[in-house]
Amino acid sequence: MCRAASSPDHCVSAPCRFAELGVEHLGAVAAVERESFANPWSAEELGWVVQEESGVCVGLWVAEELIGYGLGRTAGVRFHLASLAIAPAWRRQGWGGRLLLEMLRRARRRGCQGCRLEVRTGNRAAISLYLRWGFRQEGRLARFYTRPVEDGLVMYREL
Ligand SMILES: CC(C)(COP(=O)(O)OP(=O)(O)OC[C@H]1O[C@@H](n2cnc3c(N)ncnc32)[C@H](O)[C@@H]1OP(=O)(O)O)[C@@H](O)C(=O)NCCC(=O)NCCS
Repeated sequence: MCRAASSPDHCVSAPCRFAELGVEHLGAVAAVERESFANPWSAEELGWVVQEESGVCVGLWVAEELIGYGLGRTAGVRFHLASLAIAPAWRRQGWGGRLLLEMLRRARRRGCQGCRLEVRTGNRAAISLYLRWGFRQEGRLARFYTRPVEDGLVMYREL
């Protein structure tokens, strides 16, 4: 087990709540998605992920506001983290790390032993976040992303 991820609680002071995402949350999730990605998934596309049986889809609320979400799915003992975002006004306050660890905790509870993800090579914030919480680069996928075309880094950590 990777010991890098103990608890990021030290950097977060406001009370928060994690909960599984349902179709009723898709409007709020899509709003954060639009603020976070150049090619956002639509509410309909997000709905497919949220309703998958293997899905691990978690929202993060502060008071009544959805400030972030993570989407992933299990495949045997592997967990694939497909998306993670924090609304711009809430970034650099430790929420991304806290959400990431909650996703990993839930994947571990479902029997997963490792987590894999892909990230744009130019996404410095996300790469730093993943490195900070124990992920290591495992490979590189040429021209993995479109609009704009960019290579992807494959990152992995044990759970
Ligand atoms: C990536 C993202 C989720 C990080 O969320 P966050 O709440 O800002 O993350 P944290 O506050 O927990 O940051 C933890 C660490 O990540 C790194 N980090 C986060 N944002 C960074 C930035 N803009 N530049 C450099 N490092 C950054 C730092 O190491 C940071 O620790 P520090 O603040 O002590 O220096 C957020 O920037 C985001 O939603 N981006 C748009 C969506 C996205 O790209 N998601 C990833 C898809 S793979």
